[in-house]
Amino acid sequence: MDNKELYRIALDATKNSYAPFSGFRVGAALLTKDGRLFTGVNVENSSLGATICAERTACVKAVSEGYREFEAIAVASPGEDAWPCGICRQFLYEFAPDLRVISGKDEDSLKEYRLYELLPEGFRLEEHI
Ligand code: THU
Repeated sequence: MDNKELYRIALDATKNSYAPFSGFRVGAALLTKDGRLFTGVNVENSSLGATICAERTACVKAVSEGYREFEAIAVASPGEDAWPCGICRQFLYEFAPDLRVISGKDEDSLKEYRLYELLPEGFRLEEHI
């Protein structure tokens, strides 16, 4: 699956975003190493700190279904780019430091980074114990 295709799936997922407070709709499409796909959206909450981002939603869905090996994630918001926040970078780093991370304001202006480029020196407890 190419980056545009993955991005389109993320953009399509934004239809299920629950963002009544910010109005910022985000969708993520997470591709596993063996070709499975998990989508996620941001789910906001009246207690604003309880909000979860699209990327973590997708990751939690995958891990809870038994998938932990990830190839790429695309993140989309209609008309905007949406690079993962710091918490999501660390959350994903746990499983895939070399994850390909894709975003852009539309499918013709996508950029791609490795997660380790977006989060240099990310933390993994297993390297300390
Ligand atoms: N958000 C995401 O879902 N992913 C990002 O990469 C950035 C931020 C959400 C959280 C919140 O619902 C809204 O965007 C505004 O911060």
